[in-house]
Amino acid sequence: MPAERELRIVEDVAGAGSALFLAERPRTVVLSGGSTPRALYERLAGADYPWTSVECFFGDERCVPPDDDRANYRMAHEALLSRVPVRVHPVDGARCDADGYERTLRERFDEALRFDLAIYGLGPDGHTASLFPGRPEVDEADRWVVTVPEAGLEPFVPRVSMTVPALSSVALGVFLVAGSDKRDALGRLLGGDDIPAARLRPERLVILADRDAAPG
Ligand code: 6PG
Repeated sequence: MPAERELRIVEDVAGAGSALFLAERPRTVVLSGGSTPRALYERLAGADYPWTSVECFFGDERCVPPDDDRANYRMAHEALLSRVPVRVHPVDGARCDADGYERTLRERFDEALRFDLAIYGLGPDGHTASLFPGRPEVDEADRWVVTVPEAGLEPFVPRVSMTVPALSSVALGVFLVAGSDKRDALGRLLGGDDIPAARLRPERLVILADRDAAPG
């Protein structure tokens, strides 16, 4: 369990995420993929923020070219990265290059990995980034980035994913959880089940969930 954990049930996950981001003023940010964060990224794109001092990283990427519909880069680029002058550190998804992304992180952080803020997604099966339940990547303790040969959910393409140690090297981690299909996974996260999402240990964790996802 992170040092500090807070669950906020909100009407509008994107609005709450955007307010939290602007209050925290992060400079190094880990983006998550999937569909839930799109509204947050779009909202942030319209915010008055010192974007030139921000660096964006990816918690995971699908092994497809950057302009593929399934690429997390494509979603983030359309919603945010093409609209603000941030520095982007993309994963080379076309080459499924986990080693290259590990090098990118090690060169940038020189062994002292620490992000100001990370957006985390939660899958209905309890996965986060591309760390799927029952897969060996979840137990990786040394590397910061791994190849995930088999995805546990659609799209069924290999992935590159940050590991639990990398996704935990974070001052503030924020789960965005929306929709009734996430209710069970959120209950398990809060209940302390050993799902991949529950392994993350940022210094502070805020879970933003909408009413449909809220257990009970
Ligand atoms: C990915 C993700 C993944 C995602 C969750 C939630 O590349 O698939 O990064 O971990 O965050 O599956 O995705 P949704 O927001 O689409 O439900």
